[in-house]
Amino acid sequence: METHTGMQSPKGVWWKRAHPTERMWVAIAFGWCMVLFAMMPLWHFKGGQNPAGVRYRVKPADYMRRTQEFIAAHKVGTDQGIPIVEPPAGSDIYLIGLSFAWHPILKLRQGTEYTLHLSSLDVNHGFSLYPMNINFQVVPGYDYGLRVTPTEAGDLRIVCNEFCGIGHHTMVGRVIVTDSAGREVAVADRAEITREVAP
Ligand code: CUA
Repeated sequence: METHTGMQSPKGVWWKRAHPTERMWVAIAFGWCMVLFAMMPLWHFKGGQNPAGVRYRVKPADYMRRTQEFIAAHKVGTDQGIPIVEPPAGSDIYLIGLSFAWHPILKLRQGTEYTLHLSSLDVNHGFSLYPMNINFQVVPGYDYGLRVTPTEAGDLRIVCNEFCGIGHHTMVGRVIVTDSAGREVAVADRAEITREVAP
């Protein structure tokens, strides 16, 4: 009987040349890896997915104060106790994420540029604009100023896409985008949409 220890090489075929088809597949896999590797920097410049804006450090209390000033200056109504704010074109607009709501409701105009400030007063939240394909992390202690231009009128929902606690699934906010003449388009059934995005 043959004894075997870890000091002896096991019998194998590693010294034989790989079969041509295996070598071909390794070459294809390597080539594909290089394509994916190249896509990372390419997409960074060509993908149109990078946030346009600036980032600052901010104390939550200061951010809260700025947002309250912003609300007081441009408030046009309320919806279920949450202020609706219609800021002038080109202005700095403020949105707070805190467990488990978004403040205030922004009323924006299609085709108009704003600088959207996003920050959280407590934990990480995720800003996801339904039904558009927009995602952004909302982080306490940082104010992200994003340059945004609404491209379509509608009554949109902000859905929190970062798990933030027991009420995470109820953290739904609202953004109203009026058409370029400032008119609101048909308002969707709020309960219906809330059910759709937060089952
Ligand atoms: Cu806020 Cu999840």
